[in-house]
Amino acid sequence: MAKRAKSLTKPWQRRLRGGADEAASELLASTDVDAALYKYDVSGSVAHAQMLAEIGVLNQRELSAIKRGLQAVAADIETGKLQPDARLEDIHMVIEAALIRRIGPPGRKLHTGRSRNDQVTLDLRLWARDAIDGLVERVRQLQRGFLALTEKHGSTIMPAYTHLQPAQPILAGHALLACVEMLDRDADRLADCRKRTNVCPLGAGAVAGTSIPLDRRRVAGLLGFPAVTRNSIDATSDRDFLTELCFDLAVLAGHLSRWAEDWIIFSSEEFGFLELDDAYCTSSSMMPQKKNPDTLELIRAKSATAVASLVGLLTLTKSLPSGYSRDLQDDKRFVFPAVAAMNSALTVAAGIVRTTKFRPQRMAAALEAGFLDATALAEYLVGKGVAFRTAHQIVGGLVARAAQAAKGLAELPLATLQAACEKIGPDVRKYLGAANVVKRYAPEGSAGRKQLRQQLAFWKKKLTVGRKSPERP
Ligand code: ARG
Repeated sequence: MAKRAKSLTKPWQRRLRGGADEAASELLASTDVDAALYKYDVSGSVAHAQMLAEIGVLNQRELSAIKRGLQAVAADIETGKLQPDARLEDIHMVIEAALIRRIGPPGRKLHTGRSRNDQVTLDLRLWARDAIDGLVERVRQLQRGFLALTEKHGSTIMPAYTHLQPAQPILAGHALLACVEMLDRDADRLADCRKRTNVCPLGAGAVAGTSIPLDRRRVAGLLGFPAVTRNSIDATSDRDFLTELCFDLAVLAGHLSRWAEDWIIFSSEEFGFLELDDAYCTSSSMMPQKKNPDTLELIRAKSATAVASLVGLLTLTKSLPSGYSRDLQDDKRFVFPAVAAMNSALTVAAGIVRTTKFRPQRMAAALEAGFLDATALAEYLVGKGVAFRTAHQIVGGLVARAAQAAKGLAELPLATLQAACEKIGPDVRKYLGAANVVKRYAPEGSAGRKQLRQQLAFWKKKLTVGRKSPERP
């Protein structure tokens, strides 16, 4: 025998007898997560009620009772006076029931021409729109942090790595602005997702719309949506905007994990390029000397949450039939944690960037190892008319000799260099060494000073505070 849950009266009480099984009732409930939507549910309902009054479904008295009632319910939820009762399943029914308790009969008219199926996707779109705006603002903040650091330390020379092996010398600003680039695409992606999110589904009803002549565009206008959905089946089934948001967050999280990994390595004793502020480190319960970059590690870890959310939503929505299915209720369990994780990661990342100290001497010391000027030497030979592949071989031989002698290329005697290729002249001294290499980077997008100036000018213009955000329509 099924154990019946002590039931509250639900709108469909007359259709189903005896209330749900207790465990089933728990399974059905989503108030533990969707309570977070209460503000959006109330603003959606206020707009819906306003329109219902304008088309004559509600009179003015009913409308103001509903509006006042909804605000009071929102305030009660806000202050904790009204605890969403899980037996009412979801936040939509909690709010409607509280409204009816509070204002009586007019509350029973609010759901005219509406289903929870269009209501929940409306709430999610309103929520996602705000979430995106908050995320974009945090991404911009972080970009500005990297920009400020570039202005301060941009012209310090450091090694660039491929395969995490020393590759070529660069200006530190070039590495910092690489982060600004990744983040810019992330902000763009989010802004693009916002366009598809920013469409009003209300009026789609349960699946087929309604015979009540709702003014959908009016509701959309009241809620700041520039458009309404065209098809009620699609409108109630679609969660692409959330999947897309999770994808954007997964990519963003991947970018943050790359940066976090770089800085974990650079702040290690062995590299010592950076010193993290104590406020962003932890120590060890056993080893008294430790200063660990745990915040960077946890930022790196948030990729797991973001990717899991994306995979979760893709899995949740795959093969669902057209029209609402209850599976969709669980969408929030994926997308809410992803947004929370990325908000936290972005906020802490900005703090780390703001407070981390550069250690230019350690960067300078690292320039001595790894033959960072080898490519530049090959390119010097190209300037002397040697084919690049030949030049590459000549320099490869010289690097092998220098490595054996435990010297840098610039420390090899001119005679040794000339023995490898007679085209090498005394002017080669002006080409060797990290500082000389950085001076010669030529095309747009390289790691030299001219290019850094160009990039800085571009980003300063784009990220200037007070700029009107192009993301919002
Ligand atoms: N709590 C549900 C959700 O979040 C609302 C829609 C329920 N609709 C239904 N026909 N059972 O998706």
